[in-house]
Amino acid sequence: MRRNHSEGNDLGWAVEWKLVRDPAYRVLLLDPDARSAGEVLRALGGVQVDHARTRPEAFARLGSAVYGAVLSAHARPLLDGIAFLLEAETVAPDAMRVLLTGDEEIDAEIDQRSATGHMFRFWNTPFDPRTLAGLVGEGVKLQRLQRESRALAQKLNVDLEKLRRREKLLDIVVRERTREIEVAYQKLKIANRQAILGLAEAIEAKDPYTKGHCGRTAAYALALARECGYPGEDLEALEFASFLHDVGKIGIKDAVLLKPGPLDSEEWDHMRQHPVKGYEITGQIDLLRPSMGCIRNHHERWDGRGYPDGLVAEAIPLGARIVAIADAFDAMATDRPYKRAMSAAQCRAAFERTAGAQYDPALIEIWVGRKIADEFLEEQ
Ligand SMILES: [Fe+2]
Repeated sequence: MRRNHSEGNDLGWAVEWKLVRDPAYRVLLLDPDARSAGEVLRALGGVQVDHARTRPEAFARLGSAVYGAVLSAHARPLLDGIAFLLEAETVAPDAMRVLLTGDEEIDAEIDQRSATGHMFRFWNTPFDPRTLAGLVGEGVKLQRLQRESRALAQKLNVDLEKLRRREKLLDIVVRERTREIEVAYQKLKIANRQAILGLAEAIEAKDPYTKGHCGRTAAYALALARECGYPGEDLEALEFASFLHDVGKIGIKDAVLLKPGPLDSEEWDHMRQHPVKGYEITGQIDLLRPSMGCIRNHHERWDGRGYPDGLVAEAIPLGARIVAIADAFDAMATDRPYKRAMSAAQCRAAFERTAGAQYDPALIEIWVGRKIADEFLEEQ
């Protein structure tokens, strides 16, 4: 007699039983014995159970349908159920495998022979239909879980692929934007440089005898900075400072700035205000803030007798010490209305004489030792 649906519910497996009765869920039973097979079929009443009497028949069925559970009798020497279930695993790896046996000692042998350990033992002496139904119900749950996790993994893979495509697209957009920004930045930098050079020209326009002085000072300062290991990221600020070291002269009276003869002490006091005036002018321009210190202190002396702050030695910003040397070198090496340009040897001698008093001795050693000036003087 086959067990009906309501009897399944009576077993307390309402949910699982409903699932087991899903026509997609099938159980394969290998049992050569009609009587014991009948007990199983009755216990799993309402479930789609395919009964095979021989191993070849069982494998034929395994090859043609998907099974949620594979049950096998174990009646040696006629049928080695453990061997069959081990082989069945290779064909239907997701199916729950249950060995139906009356041998109480079989567990150790199952553990030993089933490497994966995924084989259940149902002790069928005496036969308990409730336990078998419960076991198969668990198998259903397991199989559903496996199906769901596989579907989820597949969905995740698809989502991951979508995400990767989106990331790639985003990457392209970001790269495009970055390029646009870089181009805009470069244009802005060029415009800023032009504005700064314009300022430098404004200083030179006041005193035509110093034409080209700002550009040359910048070239000397950068050459010395590179030789003394000046931080690369600060070179631009140093270049701007060199160009604009005398920008404060815009605020110096023409009568003083352009006076042909020597200045009196009051005029010198006024002239000596140009570093502070330059510091104040560049303080108004964000781009020039990093250059302010060099501009303010380019007339300081190593011995502390310079202006405007009377800083001593390394208290003077390194950039300002470099600009001081570059500024002085250009003054010495070019013709002025009141003097002829000095030769390279004369410039060198003047620097060696004043190193440690007016200029940073270590920087002078680099300037002279590495013959930085020579390269420029050859060009002139
Ligand atoms: Fe100056």
